[in-house]
Amino acid sequence: MTMKILSLETTCDETAAAVVTDQLEVLSSVVASQDDLHRKYGGVVPELASRAHVQRILPVIEQALRKAGITLGDLDAVAVANTPGLAGSLLVGLVAAKTLCLALGLPLIAVDHLQAHIFACRLAAGQDIFPCVGLVVSGGHTSLYRCRDALDFQLLGSTRDDAAGESYDKVAAMLSLPYPGGPSVDRAARNGDPAAFQFPRTFLNDEDHLDFSFSGLKTAVRYQIAGPGKVDFSQLNLPPQRIADLAASFQEAVVDCLVGKAELAMRWTGLQTLCVGGGVAANSRLRQRLTESAQQHGWELHIAPLALCTDNAVMGAIAVERLKAGLVEPLELDIQPGMVRSGASA
Ligand code: KG4
Ligand code: ZN
Repeated sequence: MTMKILSLETTCDETAAAVVTDQLEVLSSVVASQDDLHRKYGGVVPELASRAHVQRILPVIEQALRKAGITLGDLDAVAVANTPGLAGSLLVGLVAAKTLCLALGLPLIAVDHLQAHIFACRLAAGQDIFPCVGLVVSGGHTSLYRCRDALDFQLLGSTRDDAAGESYDKVAAMLSLPYPGGPSVDRAARNGDPAAFQFPRTFLNDEDHLDFSFSGLKTAVRYQIAGPGKVDFSQLNLPPQRIADLAASFQEAVVDCLVGKAELAMRWTGLQTLCVGGGVAANSRLRQRLTESAQQHGWELHIAPLALCTDNAVMGAIAVERLKAGLVEPLELDIQPGMVRSGASA
C-alpha cells in the first residue's frame, strides 16, 4: 500500500501544501503566494508574512487534501520545512504540522528547505540524481553542496552577504522594475547588452573557495545608475534601453559567478551530475549558460522545472527518504531560522 504524506512549506512568503506518496507521486500541490501583500514594500515584510501564513495555512491544507481526493484520516505522515527561513513564518508551518501529528498520531518529518530545492530536480528527473553537486539559488540563499544522497548534504560554499535572488530584487527596485524583481530583470535583460557595463564578479577568480558575494555588485549597479548620495530611484525615469543594458550587464555578472563556482565545485568533487534549484534557477540566462557548460564538460545537468523553482511544498517529498530511513522527529522539534551549516542531516 502506498503511503501518503502531507508536506507543508511556510519558510518565507509562500503558504504551500502538497500531498505526495512514498513512490514520489504528486497527488496535489497548492501554493498561496503573498506577492500582492509585499509588493508595495519592494521586499518581504516578515511580520506581514507570518500573519498571512496564519490566515492561509488551514485553507491551503484543506485544498491540498481535497485536490488529492483524500481526507486527514488517509494520511500516513506530515512533513514540514523547519529550516532555514523567517522565524515567524517557519513557526506557522511547524505548529500546524505538529498539531496534525498529535491529533492524528502520525510521524513528523523535518525538511531542510534548501535540500528540498535540490530534491525538486529528483522529482522532475523521475530517476536517481545522487551523488551530485547541488546549487541552490534563492531569494535568501546561494549555496553549493556535495549531495551524496538525499540524506547527506555537505555544504561546500555559500554567499557571504546578499543572496543571488536578493541582489536581483534590490537591483530591480533601483531600476523601478516590478516586484518580484528576479523575473522583471530577467525580462528586461533580453533587450539589453550584457557587455554594456563592466560590473564586478566577486570571488570568480578565487580558486581556493566556493563562496559567493553579491553585495559589491549591487553597490556597483547603484553607483552606475545614480552615483553616491541619497537618491529617489522612483524619480529617475531612466530610458528603457539603459534599463535593459543595466539589467543585462548585472545579470551577466551574477550568472558568471554562479556558473563559475558551480564549475569549480564540479572540478573539486569530481562528480558528474549538477543539480540546480531555487527561485533564481528559473532565470533564462542562467539556465542557458548552465546548459552550455554541462554540454561542454559532458556533465549530466538537472535544473528544477519552472513550477518547482520558486517555493512549493512538492519538493518537501525529500521527506519520503527520511521516513524510509526512520528519521522521524519528536514533537519537541523546533524551528532553525539560520542555515544548517554542517554536513549530513541524518
Ligand atoms: O526559492 P524562492 O522562491 O524563495 C526563497 O527560498 O528565497 O526564490 C525567490 C527568489 C526571489 O529573489 C526572486 O526574485 C527570484 O527567486 N527569481 C528569479 C527569477 N524568478 C524568481 N531571479 C532571477 N530570474 C528569474 N527568472
Ligand atoms: Zn526557497
